This record gives sequence, C-alpha cells and structure tokens, in this order.
Amino acid sequence: MYLDKFCNLKVERSMTKSSEYTYSFSIFLLLSFLLLLNLKGPFQPISLFHIGFFSEILPNNHLVLESCDYSYGTWVRDENYWKQSYTEECEFLDPGFRCHQQGRKDNDYKNWRWQPHGCDLPRFNASDLLERSRNGRIVFAGDSIGRNQWESLVCMLVQAVSNHSTVYEEKGKSINKHKGYLSMRFDDYNLTVEYYRVPFLVKLGRPQHNFSDQIQKTIKVDELHWYSKWWIGADVLIFNAGHWWNEGKTVKMGFFFEEGGFINTTMDVKEAFRRSLQTWKSWVIQNLDPVKCNIFFRSYSPTHFRNGTWIDGGTCDSFTSPERNYNKLESEPLNNPIISKTVDQTKGIYKNVQFLNITYLTEFRKDGHISKYREPSKDMMVQDCSHWCLPGVPDTWNELLYAHLLSKGYRTRKTDKG
Ligand SMILES: *[C@@H]1O[C@H](CO)[C@@H](O)[C@H](O)[C@H]1NC(C)=O
Ligand SMILES: *[C@@H]1O[C@H](CO)[C@@H](O)[C@H](O)[C@H]1NC(C)=O
Ligand SMILES: *[C@@H]1O[C@H](CO)[C@@H](O)[C@H](O)[C@H]1NC(C)=O
Ligand SMILES: *[C@@H]1O[C@H](CO)[C@@H](O)[C@H](O)[C@H]1NC(C)=O
Ligand SMILES: *[C@@H]1O[C@H](CO)[C@@H](O)[C@H](O)[C@H]1NC(C)=O
Ligand SMILES: *[C@@H]1O[C@H](CO)[C@@H](O)[C@H](O)[C@H]1NC(C)=O
Ligand SMILES: *[C@@H]1O[C@H](CO)[C@@H](O)[C@H](O)[C@H]1NC(C)=O
Repeated sequence: MYLDKFCNLKVERSMTKSSEYTYSFSIFLLLSFLLLLNLKGPFQPISLFHIGFFSEILPNNHLVLESCDYSYGTWVRDENYWKQSYTEECEFLDPGFRCHQQGRKDNDYKNWRWQPHGCDLPRFNASDLLERSRNGRIVFAGDSIGRNQWESLVCMLVQAVSNHSTVYEEKGKSINKHKGYLSMRFDDYNLTVEYYRVPFLVKLGRPQHNFSDQIQKTIKVDELHWYSKWWIGADVLIFNAGHWWNEGKTVKMGFFFEEGGFINTTMDVKEAFRRSLQTWKSWVIQNLDPVKCNIFFRSYSPTHFRNGTWIDGGTCDSFTSPERNYNKLESEPLNNPIISKTVDQTKGIYKNVQFLNITYLTEFRKDGHISKYREPSKDMMVQDCSHWCLPGVPDTWNELLYAHLLSKGYRTRKTDKG
C-alpha cells in the first residue's frame, strides 16, 4: 500500500521538481534494497518501510548530505520511536501541550518517524547538540507554534542532562503561554535556549488618539519588534510566522497596518506580510554576524480543522493516525512562497540563512494536534487543531533543524573547556 504511493509519488515528483540527484539516489537505494531482498527471500512490499531499512544500508550519522532534501518523504510506522524520546513528564512542558494529562487516551500518534526520500535523517543526539552549543544561545522568535517547537527542543535536550535542577528558566518564570519571553539555562553548558513571542515579528503600535475607534492597534510593517535587539548575538536563530497573518486576526480585530508613520487601511494582509519580511531581511543583513549566526525561517505549520474553522466549531479529535491519502493534502499555504522568496533574497547577501521546510511533512499529521485535550479554560468547546501535543510533531522539526546544523558543521566558537 505504501509502496505504491512511494513509487508513484517519486515518479510524479521527478517530473515536477528537478531534484534529479535525489531521484537517482533513491532509485539506487531502491535497487540495492531489491537486490538485498532477492538474497534474503520473497519480496514483501511492506517490509520496505520497516524500522531500520535505510539504516541497514546507510551508515548512521555519517551520511549527511548538504544536498539532501529532508522536506520530502514518508511517515514510517515505528513503534520504538517514542522510546527514544522524552515523555509528557518533562517538567519543562507547558500543561497545554500535555495531551494525556488532559485526557487523550490514544498513543498511536507517537509511533511515526519521518523518513526523507533518498537520505536518512541523522539520529538526534542531545548531548552532541548541547556540546556543540556550549557557551551559546539558541533563540526561537515567532508565534505560539514557535513556543511549541521551543518546548520540544528544551525537552529533547534535557534528556542528556543528568541533574535536571541545572536546567532552569533564568528569571524563575513558570513556563506557560502568557509569557512574552522565556529563557531556559543549561548550566553545565553555559547555554540558553530562548523563546520570544512575536506573532507578527514586527512592532505593534497604538494609533493616534483622533483615529477612528475601528483601529485598536497598528502593525508597523517597517519596524522589527523591539525584542529583536535581544536576538543579536545568538548562535542559532529560528524564526516563524504565519498563524496571525490572516484577516481574522488582523483587520477584522482592528489591527491595521502602518508604514512610514501612516496607517494604510487599504493594505491587504498578504502585502503587509511581504513588507514585514522585507523589514526582517534588512534587519538580518544589518545586525547579524554571518559567520557566527545560523538563521532558520521555519515554514508554515498547517492546521487541520474539519467541519468548521478555529472559531466556529472545527474539529480534529477523530484523527488517530496520519493522513494516508496524498490527494487529501492541502496545497502549499500562501505564506510559504513569500517566506522562501525572502529567504532566497537574503541569502544573496547573508549566506547563513535557511528556509526550514516542514510544511509537507506536517500536512500529513492531522492526528498530532491538541484537539479537545486542551488545558481547561473558558473556551473549552473550541478545539485546537493548530498546536501540537508534545512529545509529537515539533520533535521532527527539531530533528530537521539538527540535521541542517550538522551538515553546516555547526559549533559555537566560544568553547572554553577544550
Ligand atoms: C516545501 O517542501 C515540499 C516538499 O518537498 C515542496 O513540495 C514545497 O514546494 C516546498 N515549499 C517551498 C516554498 O519551497
Ligand atoms: C552522541 O554524542 C556524544 C557526544 O558528542 C557521543 O559521545 C555519543 O557517542 C553520541 N551518541 C550516539 C548514539 O551517537
Ligand atoms: C558563557 O557564555 C557567554 C557567551 O554566551 C560568555 O560570554 C561567558 O564567558 C561564558 N561563561 C563561562 C563561565 O564560560
Ligand atoms: C543538582 O543541581 C543542583 C543545582 O545546581 C545542586 O544544588 C544539586 O546538589 C545537584 N544534585 C546532585 C545530585 O548533584
Ligand atoms: C488627527 O490629527 C492630526 C493632527 O492633529 C491630523 O493631521 C489628522 O488629519 C487627524 N486624523 C484624523 C483621522 O482625523
Ligand atoms: C497602501 O498600501 C498599498 C499596498 O497594499 C499601496 O499601493 C498604497 O500606495 C498605500 N497607500 C499609501 C497612502 O501609502
Ligand atoms: C464532518 O461532518 C460529517 C457530517 O456530519 C461527518 O460525517 C464527518 O465525520 C465529520 N468529519 C470530522 C473529521 O469530524
């Protein structure tokens, strides 16, 4: 069943995308595997996707190809996957992401591993990433899906720390969604892993007093958020944006766009997003050290509301396994081409920036959302099909992040202990 899709898709893909290298490499893998199977016994399609298929052939961790496209592949069932992971007991998890604690019973959504086509993802090694990040700063800036990913990374890293008391929020803040920024300190490594809540990336302002009541706030598309001064000096910076860039969460809520000190009521959301990313680009080029700082802009994390939207009763709680039907995947969200184009433009001047494309792999994971297993609150009736249960899908985004860092030979230059 998976085999058919695997092959069909690959052929389709070879026509639509010019990643010929990946294609021929996959074919090589497929052929070598078929050869192996011939020696081993009768062909059983399903075994193609058993755990360790690729790792049987490829030496783990050694084959990290710069040209490998991690964004494209298949979810492979792997019942051992969660055993390598942290658990919901990780003390740094927001109660809002602990789905079992909030009543979720099914576990199957944890039994999936992302398998890129044509290459292997290196196995996440927390102590290795901690060691490489010694005396450094890893910074996430974006909306609450960025906090989802930040908490995931903190819990992934803490696994390699024997004394958890040496990991703490720098100012003793508790980890929850109401904080503007949070900074986890890993004392043994002199490392901080930080999160800044900046849903629009740019600055918010108040309109002049005499402006119409309709305008609650302004979104200044030509000025990056004032938190940005704290991002300077980071070793790894992971941006994200998208979930607030729609009409419902801007103009319909009275958030209008401002540019050059003037409120422009006719500017549409897409144009405002495009301009804000141009502002981001200029900021990156002017403020960041191209040798030291590794910048990522994570792509849009898809939502999976069915039979309604986030505000009018949309649901996703019936899903307990990933989408299998490729035809049911939604097309690329509008934000992504804007982000990837801006990243490409930035790359022209500032090389060390990358579009972290997790959208396609995340599209499949309609089963990974919080849905009705939310932290108790007033709007309990509304399901959350945007954020993710942890452990869960954002762990895979961090595996991709790690893979990209490895392929760049990432290591902070401030090592004091050898
Ligand atoms: C993201 O990755 C998917 C899967 O490889 C691809 O189809 C899509 O075009 C990529 N998006 C962008 C903006 O590059
Ligand atoms: C993880 O990284 C550490 C430190 O770099 C290394 O000693 C260890 O062998 C690695 N573990 C695995 C399973 O690769
Ligand atoms: C910790 O890291 C910072 C840089 O982030 C550095 O300035 C400082 O000297 C380091 N402290 C120690 C004890 O190594
Ligand atoms: C764990 O770390 C804390 C804070 O640094 C320290 O007070 C405590 O003694 C440590 N515990 C052990 C068992 O090393
Ligand atoms: C608000 O006041 C300023 C200066 O007093 C004026 O130039 C502007 O036209 C006024 N705006 C509106 C919407 O009335
Ligand atoms: C408002 O923004 C639009 C682009 O969306 C632009 O064409 C227009 O010139 C702007 N208006 C003013 C007064 O700057
Ligand atoms: C959406 O509604 C239809 C009709 O009521 C129902 O059959 C279907 O299961 C619902 N889908 C989800 C994902 O809840």
